[in-house]
Amino acid sequence: MAIGRAGSIFGFCAGVCATSVVAASLWASSAFAQGGAAALAYPVRPITIIVPFAAGGPTDVLARVLGEHIRADLGQPVLIENVTGAGGSIGVGRVAAAAPDGYTVSAGHFGTHVANGAIYALKYDLLRDLDPVALLPSNPMLVVTRRNFPAADLKELVAWLKANPGKATAGTAGAGSGSHIGGAFLANLTGAPIQFVPYRGTAPAMQDLVSGQIDLIVDQTANALSQVRQGSIRALAVTAATRLAVAPDIPTSAEAGLPGLRMELWNGMWLPHGTPRAIVDKLNGAIVKALGDPGVREKLATLGLEGPPAGQRTPEALAAFQKAEVEKWWPIIKAARISAE
Ligand code: MLT
Repeated sequence: MAIGRAGSIFGFCAGVCATSVVAASLWASSAFAQGGAAALAYPVRPITIIVPFAAGGPTDVLARVLGEHIRADLGQPVLIENVTGAGGSIGVGRVAAAAPDGYTVSAGHFGTHVANGAIYALKYDLLRDLDPVALLPSNPMLVVTRRNFPAADLKELVAWLKANPGKATAGTAGAGSGSHIGGAFLANLTGAPIQFVPYRGTAPAMQDLVSGQIDLIVDQTANALSQVRQGSIRALAVTAATRLAVAPDIPTSAEAGLPGLRMELWNGMWLPHGTPRAIVDKLNGAIVKALGDPGVREKLATLGLEGPPAGQRTPEALAAFQKAEVEKWWPIIKAARISAE
């Protein structure tokens, strides 16, 4: 198929667009139509991923692992900027207000892109002002305590919480964060209030748990597992249906006596609304490639991060999933009166 016959190519395309040349020129014209030369040439300068929590935490680690592969695939540096505060809602707001040119990316999760919409009076709309790029791996939570907390298992922790209502201190990454939702869930299930201590992320919260300043965190495996392995904190349960392959010694919440404490925190990436589709597709392509890389999968698996299944890696899949999560969880979170204070 010769390039010269452009006119007829378009006519020809009404049927099948099999050959790469046809596909490339069609893509070029639609990309051009959907964002012009900029979309075609994207990226021509460094891309910044805004992580709405502190460096070294689970959201940061995942963004950095993927960022390295996005850099290699798209040929431009990928910078990580930690913009923290208000359960991650400040960092997400930075992206919602950014230019829709593909150079400012939002890394986040269930907390930042679903729960916060039911907790904070956000200046942006989570579903309208951010365009989904890709659903990322998820991980369950671990109920972890400081090493010398007076509870050897989950049953003893629950008994202690009930006997000492409001005395236990739990680290969180702010109202609406995964660790806050997990902690509120534990308090709700046991009927024993807990004092939440907000940090700018679970990385700094973990430092205080290791040094015994706080009593517990309901934290993502991606953040807590390495400290558990070092023996600097104690894991009482994982909020999954089955034990983790990478930590078979940690009982499930059901095995540990609290079957209702089930939670899996999913992650994702978004761009400002109105970003040309061709740019969304390029970034999605780089992320999907990274998720398909055996080395990446192995690295993430050691952190307890898995998935999403191959069929769930399109921007549409994240859009549909996020919308369904908003419809499911907003009434529950609002009814639970979880507030930003
Ligand atoms: C973090 O990266 O610090 C966490 O994702 C915060 C959280 O949601 O618990």
